[in-house]
Amino acid sequence: MIWIKEVSKSFIQGDESIHALTNISLHVKRGECVVLKGSSGSGKSTLLSLIAGLMQPSQGEVRVDGKEISKLPEHFSAALRRQKIGFIFQKYHLIAHLSALENIMTPLIPENLSLHVLESKAKAVMEQCGIAHKAKMRINRLSGGEQQRVAIARSLINDPLIILADEPTANLDEKLSHELIATLEKLKQKGVTLLIATHDPLFFDLGFVDQIIEIHNGELIV
Ligand SMILES: Nc1ncnc2c1ncn2[C@@H]1O[C@H](COP(=O)(O)OP(=O)(O)OP(=O)(O)O)[C@@H](O)[C@H]1O
Ligand SMILES: [Mg+2]
Repeated sequence: MIWIKEVSKSFIQGDESIHALTNISLHVKRGECVVLKGSSGSGKSTLLSLIAGLMQPSQGEVRVDGKEISKLPEHFSAALRRQKIGFIFQKYHLIAHLSALENIMTPLIPENLSLHVLESKAKAVMEQCGIAHKAKMRINRLSGGEQQRVAIARSLINDPLIILADEPTANLDEKLSHELIATLEKLKQKGVTLLIATHDPLFFDLGFVDQIIEIHNGELIV
């Protein structure tokens, strides 16, 4: 489902080049759950962004469901993302002045669905994430953990084949973290492919995780 072949990513900053990822190869099979662990700055978010086609690798290939997302023009990578990928961003990227419900509906706006269908889909994922009671609240009135649950609900609205989760429990207490893990386990049972970047030890001893991969200074440890 996710094929990464000899991928490197560097960022140029001034006259300095930052090597965020070096020669990464990785295969996540359809329906697998993979945990990517590594300390801060090791390259986890960069790797997830490359898989989602949100940035291009400096070298190498990234394939998602058979398509080379790293080579697609923005219009097509956006469509692939919208149809197949749910992304839980580390920094949420929610729209502060919109309500929770409106934020959750945004990924489906280009699909031209009726407002009624959009709302019922949004309400279903809000229920699933335990945030339905905050549907009408503006994002900037919600707590960090509530915003995180809105971000998780938004990632599920397109019924994705793949979920890329970047530190999904960073702002959740232990009870909510366990609820999130239960939601992820149910998605895995439905056949969703999961890649979770985290340093939360709760993820390191779960029965439904197929692989734990460690990244250090932009390189996978084998
Ligand atoms: N847009 C960018 N421009 C310059 N450097 C960047 C950029 N994005 C990431 N980096 C650098 O790449 C390296 C990897 O960053 P990344 O965000 O992928 O790490 P991370 O493992 O997700 O860390 P954290 O656990 O803190 O979220 C870091 O040294 C970071 O400073
Ligand atoms: Mg990160």
